[in-house]
Amino acid sequence: MRVLVTWGSKRGGTEGIARIVGATLAERGHDVVMKSAEHVRDLDGIEAAFVGGALYGNRWPSNVRRFVRRNVQRLREMPVWLFSSGPLDDSAEREEIPPPNMVAVLAERVGARGHMTFGGKLDPDAKDFPARSFAAESAGDFRNPAHIRRWASARADELPTAQPGKAINYPAHALTRSLLHGATGWALCAGTMTVLTQLLSPGTAIVLHAIAAPLFFLGIAVHYFGARGARDPLPTAILWTLMVLALDVVIVASAVSGSFAMLASVAGLWLPLALIFLVTAATGGLMSTLPWPKTSSERPSATAR
Ligand SMILES: Cc1cc2nc3c(=O)[nH]c(=O)nc-3n(C[C@H](O)[C@H](O)[C@H](O)COP(=O)(O)O)c2cc1C
Repeated sequence: MRVLVTWGSKRGGTEGIARIVGATLAERGHDVVMKSAEHVRDLDGIEAAFVGGALYGNRWPSNVRRFVRRNVQRLREMPVWLFSSGPLDDSAEREEIPPPNMVAVLAERVGARGHMTFGGKLDPDAKDFPARSFAAESAGDFRNPAHIRRWASARADELPTAQPGKAINYPAHALTRSLLHGATGWALCAGTMTVLTQLLSPGTAIVLHAIAAPLFFLGIAVHYFGARGARDPLPTAILWTLMVLALDVVIVASAVSGSFAMLASVAGLWLPLALIFLVTAATGGLMSTLPWPKTSSERPSATAR
């Protein structure tokens, strides 16, 4: 079988795991294509895929998340396994560690047949922050080649008869849901500005609006990202910020006030926009690293094994 092994790795530890997986599958007679996630152009001719990611703050690197997002439909048509690396201790050897929420959602979206967490690796001389402080505490190579080979070997046995797993389409992922949240945030901001300018001086109204806008979007973001399967924080923050700008220009400036003077106002337009972007991206980023779901009844039944 023609099998893709791809990975997202910042410091090479996950790539090392992927190479052991690839070598094991090749020894078992499979035709293995090995590529870092950003170098995979398409999945033409690929019949099964192994996708690995390094865990940083319970998230995979953006290149491998993008790979999965771009190829969801094709991945759903083939058997897929995911793997993560990894804890900087021997916990992955002692017990099976479930994927963090963000990786579990990716697994469910593509209908992955399974996920495995392997130990990680961090060099003692890691330079950048915050890796340096992690390295001071827990540097080491906790990858176990025998464990990785055993897992890959068992998958090689399954491959000839393996079917794609059951994928989950989350309603929370719908574009219309994201657009509705963005539009609600804009309506709250525009309504607040309308009321404030009736009651207060323009300067005070602008200051209060600049405070209120990010607070509205904080609430909107908590509601949006609180649902399993919501879109990624960064694209969502960009979409909502552009929506607010477009609605302000088309409705407020063009249709209502008949003047584009607001475009020259830093405190009235650009500062709230920047705060909306930051609050949305930060809230989404933070919420996607939190454990989820809280109760087993919230977990969809067709999850990846
Ligand atoms: C800043 C930082 C954050 C990390 N966060 C996590 C984490 O959330 N979960 C985890 O299991 N390991 C975590 N690790 C350990 C890495 O996942 C581990 O070092 C991994 O092997 C790195 O893979 P790479 O070399 O392919 O980049 C973290 C390491 C660093 C330096």
